[in-house]
Amino acid sequence: MSSPHHRPRVWVSRPLFDDILDRLREHADVDVEDDDRDWTREQMAQRLRDKAGAILGVADPVDASVLAHAPLLRAVANRGVGYNNLDLAALSAAGVVATNTPGVLDETTADFAWALMLATARRVTEAERYLRAGQWKGMSFHILLGGDVHGRTLGILGMGRIGQAIARRAVGFRMPVIYHNRSRLDDAIERDCGARYVDRDTLLREADFLVLTVPMTAQTRHIVGTAELALMKRDAFLINIARGGVVDDAALVAALAQGRIAGAGLDVFEREPAVPPEMLALDNVVLTPHIASASLATRRAMAAMAVDNLIAALGYGPNAGHPPN
Ligand code: DGY
Repeated sequence: MSSPHHRPRVWVSRPLFDDILDRLREHADVDVEDDDRDWTREQMAQRLRDKAGAILGVADPVDASVLAHAPLLRAVANRGVGYNNLDLAALSAAGVVATNTPGVLDETTADFAWALMLATARRVTEAERYLRAGQWKGMSFHILLGGDVHGRTLGILGMGRIGQAIARRAVGFRMPVIYHNRSRLDDAIERDCGARYVDRDTLLREADFLVLTVPMTAQTRHIVGTAELALMKRDAFLINIARGGVVDDAALVAALAQGRIAGAGLDVFEREPAVPPEMLALDNVVLTPHIASASLATRRAMAAMAVDNLIAALGYGPNAGHPPN
């Protein structure tokens, strides 16, 4: 344990399981924010000015302007797998280690992609709104007719660990799986996932469910916009569990409103927590507040990994000197 007289300070930008944070408290003084809020760069700079490390949410920005005010900072640990909130070049130039939580959330996030596929095609949230509003007058043969999920073509854009976990679940639904990725997967992985590589336009044209799992980068920004939506089938569904910025929201609203595609299931938005009002007004879209990895067990595993990563990166733990990537 570090000397109590020279204990470093660590900032936790949003509430996190207190018992897991106790591991960090053995080594550092820990300031935990008690509210989930979006931090501006100025606020981040102010909070980090006397901190050696931080545990961050995936929307908390760190770039050169923040780092310029954080002379003591040695490591930041995202409690999430995405890291588009972090400017890695600026962090590396400042000698600050950055970590994320890959691997522990794949299966839970894949479950949720399926929840959105099923909810969107079978109009689950719309049906619940209908029932709660007292509109249900009796068993009707014709209400809320949806699309089938089983037997249709599942298309996945971005075939990393999460994409692969989504694909593996398609067997029970007897769904052919096609995917597009920056690079084609090994044959053995394709066989394990039962997935066939296709070019991007074929994916857009043939998928009945197009699931987005690409990371947010300059190359993937608005990777689905007007032109891509125009290639999709009219009865297809778009599912986004990646980052809001990979879809052009305005183009999607237009496509949904015009019936250009059948519907969408969206867990992420371009300007979270804001959701375009036009989107809120549409019935053929299922909207959730960025919860794809939010099972209790998985969120605890993510928190534990972020804490362990920070302890290691700051040199307090058994892996000191070998900070995880
Ligand atoms: C992630 O891990 O990047 C998710 O989007 C948030 O949990």
